[in-house]
Amino acid sequence: MIQSFCDWLSSTALSLTIQTVRWIIPAVQTVHILCVSIVMSSMAMLDLRLLGVAGTNQAVSRMVSRFVPWVWGALPVLLTTGIILIIGEPSRELLNPYFRAKMAMLATVTVMTLFVQRKNAKDAGYWEARRAAAALIGLASLLLWVGILSAGRWIAYY
Ligand code: HEM
Repeated sequence: MIQSFCDWLSSTALSLTIQTVRWIIPAVQTVHILCVSIVMSSMAMLDLRLLGVAGTNQAVSRMVSRFVPWVWGALPVLLTTGIILIIGEPSRELLNPYFRAKMAMLATVTVMTLFVQRKNAKDAGYWEARRAAAALIGLASLLLWVGILSAGRWIAYY
């Protein structure tokens, strides 16, 4: 069923335009990668703070309010550029286990980041008072983001 959906999608006028206009895919991938760097640097700063290994001169609550908005700003651009790449090459993405793993990890870490932000919004001292939980969520988040980035790159090699 996914295969026939991919066949239909790749025969649409929009997909054919993305496939044939030479600059579209490289330009969209460039914007995608720029947003990847924003998300990865922001989340690395926050997760290393949650782990207690970097930025310890700043309160966790300050790091959350400083870095998480960048993630929420970049994710819609990543989603839009990702969808354009999917429309351009549906089979390459939708039938790809790396792509599916990437989306599953992204859904998980998005929920985790929302949870960190919500707890922080309710109580600015929440994560300072729970160092072990903060370290655990920081480590899991960091590993998931590295997994998302790696899976994103490996899509091309499946
Ligand atoms: C928000 C939803 C996202 C969607 C729908 C999406 C979709 C895609 C697609 C379709 C590709 C092209 C793969 C290919 O054909 O080679 C791609 C590449 C990639 N994505 Fe995403 N992506 C999303 C978010 C992210 C995030 C959050 C990261 C990392 C933090 C990421 C990292 C990458 C990387 C590293 C590549 C490879 C770029 C390249 O080699 O040129 N993506 N993504």
